[in-house]
Amino acid sequence: MEKIKMTTPLVEMDGDEMTRVLWRMIKDMLILPFVDLKTAYYDLGLVERDRTNDQVTIDSAEATKKYGVAVKCATITPNVARMSEYNLKEMWKSPNGTIRSILDGTIFRAPIIVDCIKPAIPRWRKPITIARHAYGDVYKGVELRTEEPGTAELIFTGTSGKNVKQTVQKLTGPAVLQGIHNTEQSIEGFARSCFNYAVDTKQDLWFSTKDTISKVYDGAFKEIFEKVYADYADEFKRLNIEYFYTLIDDAVHRVIRSEGGYIWACKNYDGDVMSDMVSTVFGSLSLMTSVLVSPDGKYEFEAAHGTVTRHYYRYLEGEIPSTNPVATIFAWSGALKKRGELDENRQLTNFGHSLEQACLETLSDGIMTKDLADMAEGLTPVIANTEVFIKAIAERLNSILHSG
Ligand SMILES: NC(=O)c1ccc[n+]([C@@H]2O[C@H](COP(=O)([O-])OP(=O)(O)OC[C@H]3O[C@@H](n4cnc5c(N)ncnc54)[C@H](O)[C@@H]3O)[C@@H](O)[C@H]2O)c1
Repeated sequence: MEKIKMTTPLVEMDGDEMTRVLWRMIKDMLILPFVDLKTAYYDLGLVERDRTNDQVTIDSAEATKKYGVAVKCATITPNVARMSEYNLKEMWKSPNGTIRSILDGTIFRAPIIVDCIKPAIPRWRKPITIARHAYGDVYKGVELRTEEPGTAELIFTGTSGKNVKQTVQKLTGPAVLQGIHNTEQSIEGFARSCFNYAVDTKQDLWFSTKDTISKVYDGAFKEIFEKVYADYADEFKRLNIEYFYTLIDDAVHRVIRSEGGYIWACKNYDGDVMSDMVSTVFGSLSLMTSVLVSPDGKYEFEAAHGTVTRHYYRYLEGEIPSTNPVATIFAWSGALKKRGELDENRQLTNFGHSLEQACLETLSDGIMTKDLADMAEGLTPVIANTEVFIKAIAERLNSILHSG
């Protein structure tokens, strides 16, 4: 079979530890035999980030802006322990944070639905995708703890010199205070990314805040979403999808009782909490995909999990790993499908679909890594190490591609 040609390179961001090992296996066994792969390669492994003073991370994000689609391997976010383990010059920032701020994107996290892994909420038959606004609110808050009675005030000084002042509270004793903010530009970018992604994936978009209590702050989120929706309303109608705003309390009720199949846009904190709830209900972090979408339509695909450090240390000691590569494979398939779509390269898009089908069929046959075998229902799982599992997927993929 002739290899599938690509016209535009995919931005490839390599990573760390066990996922770096998976990355190589996935490329060698599932991509390179079938696709004449063109990538702009950036090594975001911690060693190279340290060598380049993190310039490589910035370059990879700029390349994503240029080419439009990236696929990223999980990477270490350094902490004190990593400083000595890797003898780092500096405690470099999280690459995901750096890339996100350059692309100004929103993260969409969706579960991969597998027949034999039943969600803890049986009604959830379709994926629920959480879109988390990744800027501001408590994550950029300033806080104070006071020790005496006094008056807490909120003061804004405009560049024109205009002052606006509000009393937060007259305090009769020690207290805690918090100042948070968001910007209209960031909220609008969030809204655009959400509407674009809904159009892209042809799914309804739900959005929830607590605007009955927070009339100005959350009220602004609601209002900006409504304003931006006006640009998408015709497209939504054409695709027969819906934009639906509701209070966060009501959203929680509806989500639990729904069968899934929509995007749930959440403010920063809500998204942080709800994405953990959704991934737990669906079963496993190793079956969650993640895509960063910028308001101007640039995409970065990755697995939602980290570098699986414990497996890596055991692998270095000679143990054969049974690390689950599915979410990383779906990052590749998602990126190839999107590249194919943008380049009108039907063969490449179809290849991405076939790769996903091969993964799901292999799992339905009961062949899976150890983490899933413990959760599988309705079949007797055959536990495979990573390499054997990927080989089984490659065989499936070969027969799917040849039968098509
Ligand atoms: N997107 C990213 O690049 C990203 C995300 C999270 C963590 N990290 C980094 O990853 C490293 C490890 O972090 P962590 O341990 O908190 O998160 P982790 O996702 O690597 O592991 C969390 C738990 O889930 C299990 N797990 C995760 N993915 C799995 C898979 N594919 N197969 C089998 N089991 C799997 C692990 O064994 C572990 O028990 C840290 O250095 C952190 O900075 C990177």
